[in-house]
Amino acid sequence: MLFEQSHLQVTEGSAYVAGGVNSGYRTGSKPHPLVFDSAHGCELIDVDGNKYIDYVLAMGPMILGHSPKEVIDAAKKQLDISILVAGQTVIEYEAAKLLTQMVPSAQKVRFASSGSEAVQVAFRVARAATNRWKIIKFEGHYHGWFDNVLVSVSPDVSLAGDALNPNVLPGTQGQEMSENIVVLPWNNVEVLEEQLKSGKIAGIIMEPIMFNTSGVLPSPGYLERVRELATKYGTVLIFDEVITGFRVSDGGAQKVLGVTPDLTILGKALANGFAVAAIVGNEELMNFISTGKVMHAGTYNSQSVSMAATLATLKILKSQVPYEAIDDSGGYLMKELSKEFASSGIEHELVGYPGVFNVRFDSKGPTEYRSALKANRERYANFAFALLQKGVRILPRGTWFLSSVHSTPDLDKTLSAVRDVLKSGI
Ligand SMILES: Cc1ncc(COP(=O)(O)O)c(C=O)c1O
Repeated sequence: MLFEQSHLQVTEGSAYVAGGVNSGYRTGSKPHPLVFDSAHGCELIDVDGNKYIDYVLAMGPMILGHSPKEVIDAAKKQLDISILVAGQTVIEYEAAKLLTQMVPSAQKVRFASSGSEAVQVAFRVARAATNRWKIIKFEGHYHGWFDNVLVSVSPDVSLAGDALNPNVLPGTQGQEMSENIVVLPWNNVEVLEEQLKSGKIAGIIMEPIMFNTSGVLPSPGYLERVRELATKYGTVLIFDEVITGFRVSDGGAQKVLGVTPDLTILGKALANGFAVAAIVGNEELMNFISTGKVMHAGTYNSQSVSMAATLATLKILKSQVPYEAIDDSGGYLMKELSKEFASSGIEHELVGYPGVFNVRFDSKGPTEYRSALKANRERYANFAFALLQKGVRILPRGTWFLSSVHSTPDLDKTLSAVRDVLKSGI
């Protein structure tokens, strides 16, 4: 497989676009950031004409595949009606109403344009509601790229200090570090309660399933206990479901795991590729936004075309039809991948759900960031690159996203590529 044109384009493009990419997370891709020509169904085609079965799905959003007719038709129709009006449209109310029917914690909704922004609103609401300043986040969890929360996402353990009282480490140069963020190990109730006892914690934010570093499920009873503790100590519980929302189920991880946070951040699969995110939550907290006590704004919030796409996506997701397809295809893929790794003698663990799961080599049962790092991540990244060269695109960090249009032949081609790669050794 040749990447010549891609290499040429990204090199030439770097003269105009910083680093040749428009998101820092695209920088490190092997062999270099790829340049794509088109995306349809679950297939990507790059400028060299290489075809890939895609399990990256734009980092998660494309749950209905790259070209779902209903979503495209809704967006095209809206283009002829309005693009952006700095006012309201009926479709945004309809989309919000659907969200309140789908996501357990959603009594009210505010749309935003990215997950990172919506997280910031949640922090404001938590602080306004509690009159406290500190936010707890967990090592290895990602909640967007803004200064106050891009900390200890993938910290170097040699710098991260005590596992039970981690140092708060910056994610980038030029970052303003806040004294108001506390980093804790996940899945540990005792250290959490110790912090909450201080009476200074406004909010706790977490991915209810940690997918940004490896794939780690909450330990049995952990989320329930966190819920109890947040209520007991008057702290706002925020689930960041930007990845898990609409992938673990139509109501997110909270619906499946049976724990309802006070506020939830949604994004990615919410709009199948359009720039839409949301903060949703209980009436009392969302009233801080309703009344304007907490400011939340944005020129592009609820842009009409994006809202049309959101509404179309939500209607399809609510019908459950995509989940039936994904349960079959993702379930099959998880089972068969596991068999392939086992028959090649690779110690591995698959964690997650048919719509989003994580594959890890040589490490079983981590419960938090540091134990998850024990996996052989380099070997996995080599596997991912070898697979790319066989026409299957997966994330080197281990996450696989399924769409409702990955067909049995796509899955079988994928498994055959996996077999080839494992046979040739990684
Ligand atoms: C869990 C989680 N929260 C927040 C974000 C930030 O969302 P966005 O990239 O839309 O700003 C991401 C992005 O990957 C995410 O995975």
